[in-house]
Amino acid sequence: MEKPVYLDYNATTPIDPEVANEMIPYIQTFFGNPSSSYSIGRQNKDAIEKARKQVSVLINCNPEEIIFTSGGTESNNHAIKGVAFANRHKGKHIITSAIEHPAVTEVCRYLNSLGYEITWLPVDTFGTVNPRDVENAVRPDTVLITIMHANNEVGTIQPIKKIAAIAHQKNIVLHTDAAQSVGKIDTDVAMLGIDLLTIAGHKLYAPKGIGALYIKQGTKVENLMYGAGQERGIRSGTENVIQIVGLGKACEIAKRDFDKNLQNMLTMRESLLNGLKNKLGDKVKVNGNLGNSLPNTLSIVFDKVEAHAFASFISNDVLISTGSACHSGNIEISSVLKAMNVDIMTAASTVRISTGKNTTVKEIDFAVDTVSKVFFKLSSK
Ligand SMILES: Cc1ncc(COP(=O)(O)O)c(C=O)c1O
Repeated sequence: MEKPVYLDYNATTPIDPEVANEMIPYIQTFFGNPSSSYSIGRQNKDAIEKARKQVSVLINCNPEEIIFTSGGTESNNHAIKGVAFANRHKGKHIITSAIEHPAVTEVCRYLNSLGYEITWLPVDTFGTVNPRDVENAVRPDTVLITIMHANNEVGTIQPIKKIAAIAHQKNIVLHTDAAQSVGKIDTDVAMLGIDLLTIAGHKLYAPKGIGALYIKQGTKVENLMYGAGQERGIRSGTENVIQIVGLGKACEIAKRDFDKNLQNMLTMRESLLNGLKNKLGDKVKVNGNLGNSLPNTLSIVFDKVEAHAFASFISNDVLISTGSACHSGNIEISSVLKAMNVDIMTAASTVRISTGKNTTVKEIDFAVDTVSKVFFKLSSK
């Protein structure tokens, strides 16, 4: 077992060796420009189209509905600004939630500075948006609803299917940031009724700096990049072939190994929680609702222990992240926990532990042991 044990898979994942192998020929050999008509260009064009197909199979759409981007942030920017700008004649109202990633909230704030109005929907104590709130927030000038599929900090899964039904009944476009959910839970866009969906490669064992955006056929989205017309003119710029090939392979693997990975993430999370409860009893508490969350995510409160000190104390042995940011000595609690009405002391003692598809029993046993020992050490101070 390698140390430190990595349990922060929601932050990023390592590149799957199968993904790396698939990319190597495009690093070492196949360098042609996909827009060139001779063979080494066409070879790369074909590789892109193969990857597009692999991504589309994972989320159940047509390959032409996928464009490749530089990651989750770009996909969110493209979706939100793209829809807002394309529909500015219709209205300038956008509905989102209070627990989105900054790659959504900051885009909405930017649009607000341009004169768009944003409704920030609250969540309940588990971090769930109520579809009824969505319905009530809709106005005649609403052009977009953007609500994440699953939350990165607490793992809560949103009732996207119900929200999509409301959006469509009112003729409003629905975008979902699925950076955390793709590859972990079912993200069938047809079944869920989604118009735009964000994919971030580095959350599903592809490299960082690659992503995709699903745009349902017929959805009006303004371009953010103008240039030589790659990606059907939607996102110009010579394609990042190496990483596109990687993302395609990662999606193929995510589809192929879905059941196995899901089971492993769930089992490891359960062992982790049970192990901690056995050792620490009521000194540990979970934020959110594990019955409706990503299979790998645990937002966990260690009674009266400051999360930053905790995470840094164990960082030679176990890597986890915190739900709060510490700025010059002041604790600023995460906007997600704040929206869930988690009190400041609880939020300051919250860490996020996220397991991966290859997390092992040994790693979990070691993490439980280390975390418990450090807990007792810190709480006896
Ligand atoms: C929910 C969510 N959306 C968007 C992003 C941003 O994705 P990227 O890092 O690929 O830009 C992340 C990454 O942390 C995320 O967790």
